[in-house]
Amino acid sequence: MGVSNEDAITLTKPERARVRSRSWKLLALLASKQKPMLVLTVVLVVISNAASASFPLIIAWAIDWGLPQVQNGNFAALGITGGIYLISAILAGTLLGWYVLCTAKISQAMLLDLRLRVFRHTQRLSLEFHENYTSGRIISRQTSDLETLRELLDQGISELVSSCVFVTFTLISIFVLDWRSGGVVMIAMIPILFLFRWYQRKSETVYRESRVVSAKLIGTFVETMTGIRAVKAFRKERANNENYAQVAGEYRDNSIRSINLFGVLQPGLVLIGNLSVAVVLAWGGFRILDGSLAVGVLVALLLATKRVFQPVENVAMFYSSLQAATAALEKVSGLLEEEPTVVEPLKPRPLGTVTGHLEFKDAVFGYGDGPVIMDRFDLDIPAGQTIAVVGQTGAGKSTLAKLIARFYDLRSGSLTLDGVPINQLANDDLRRHVVMVTQESFLFSGTVAENIGLGRPGASIEEIILAARAVGAHEFIQALPDGYATDVNKRGGRVSAGQRQLISFARAFLADPAVLILDEATSSLDIPSERAVQRGLQTLLGSRTALIIAHRLSTVQIADRVLVVHEGNVVEDGSPAELINANGRFAALHKAWRDSMV
Ligand SMILES: Nc1ncnc2c1ncn2[C@@H]1O[C@H](COP(=O)(O)OP(=O)(O)OP(=O)(O)O)[C@@H](O)[C@H]1O
Ligand SMILES: [Mg+2]
Repeated sequence: MGVSNEDAITLTKPERARVRSRSWKLLALLASKQKPMLVLTVVLVVISNAASASFPLIIAWAIDWGLPQVQNGNFAALGITGGIYLISAILAGTLLGWYVLCTAKISQAMLLDLRLRVFRHTQRLSLEFHENYTSGRIISRQTSDLETLRELLDQGISELVSSCVFVTFTLISIFVLDWRSGGVVMIAMIPILFLFRWYQRKSETVYRESRVVSAKLIGTFVETMTGIRAVKAFRKERANNENYAQVAGEYRDNSIRSINLFGVLQPGLVLIGNLSVAVVLAWGGFRILDGSLAVGVLVALLLATKRVFQPVENVAMFYSSLQAATAALEKVSGLLEEEPTVVEPLKPRPLGTVTGHLEFKDAVFGYGDGPVIMDRFDLDIPAGQTIAVVGQTGAGKSTLAKLIARFYDLRSGSLTLDGVPINQLANDDLRRHVVMVTQESFLFSGTVAENIGLGRPGASIEEIILAARAVGAHEFIQALPDGYATDVNKRGGRVSAGQRQLISFARAFLADPAVLILDEATSSLDIPSERAVQRGLQTLLGSRTALIIAHRLSTVQIADRVLVVHEGNVVEDGSPAELINANGRFAALHKAWRDSMV
């Protein structure tokens, strides 16, 4: 398991180092695909910054060489100096423009790559992961985290690199002009380093707080709105308002603290910059008086000294976005590091004709590293048998179903389909032969026909209608605004929970699997619909192996065999009639159900 973002705040040092290196590795991997473009970008940034750092030098040369020449009547000197200045200005400008375009291209390409990776990877991960990693967190990985990274890649990195290159070149030019002034600037860099370190440390703390507070803010909002029905039912609006106002207030306070930090840094930088300019000016001025420094050189020194501190401010300005991006990168790389717990075998075993014979032997299972739910479980389901699984809430019925569909793997023991362990089957084979319909039948956006058609890709509309008729869904589908072409997500196309289940039945019927699992699949149906489905169900079950989990015992009557599950074990096993006569749990359940019907 990777390190989740909640833990990221309380990481130990080695863990933090691991998370960092993981993040940079991801960034390097993404960047490595853009190599030619990256090389071009580096060349561009170096040349354009060199050109722009050379302006003061050209000015010094224009004043100290060009002006005397013009005074002596050599007007060509004006043209030469002006021309060179113009050329380097145009060069710096165009190359900068080109550089910006290149970084945008690189960053967009890297983001696209990352976006697809995150999507594919999240989809590939096993159910176990999705149950622990809330959908809200997955959504923020794909949205806000990638957005933060976009900011970093679009502006942050290019700004940082460009600033460093510019400062280096400007420093060199100052030293070339006059090493004494260079010394002054180097000395001024010392307090700037300290100031920047201070800002870095403080803003890290504030930033860490801001992450906690903003997560709280979003959490509060999402919880309120997703539970809006409960909020209204329990009149929680006022309490929610107060709670939200408090969290939003904390968020404001945090933002103010972060702005205040910048409010110290920026004037500090300006002050140090201006002081350095004053020292360079005063010292240079005296040297002009005694003739040891040229006027043009002093002008150039002043220009360069003023410009050398500017990038520091820029870097500080996007420092918090840099932090946000680092955090986002850590979280995204953590997600990408997760491995599916249920993996498709490298060399899947082929299946011949599948009859649907299932067998658990000595099976031990528990969710994640949680308690054992099934201990040394044995069960033999001959091909074609219709089995009803009953038992109280939490008994382990759905767990049994999910194991057969291989949403999870056993801890030990085996589960075979026609003698082949299901973890040695190709995913395609498994999905074709084992189909599970659950209570929360999910419809994808698209038409009703498309949703049924998912059962067997390539099925004709006639086959789809046939499947719908078989399970008794045809009538209501025809009554929809556009019949089979109704879009299930559009207004008017919305179908009820029961109708959704009928559509999933039709889908399962079309899929024609050897093993069919219905987990409370009829629970949303009203009694008349359930009766209609009962008839359809007989058709649906046909000669396949079927496992029907139901609280309503009406469904159980069509079963050949009933299993009563209790605490992860089969405690009663027999035909419905046998179990009723045996006077055990099932008999009691059955009696209660019969009494409730009269
Ligand atoms: N995803 C999960 N992670 C951890 N534990 C789980 C998970 N799903 C179920 N359990 C636990 O496994 C046990 C069996 O649950 P299961 O869902 O199989 O019960 P069930 O018989 O289907 O109940 P119900 O009739 O309410 O659907 C329960 O103790 C439950 O708490
Ligand atoms: Mg269940």
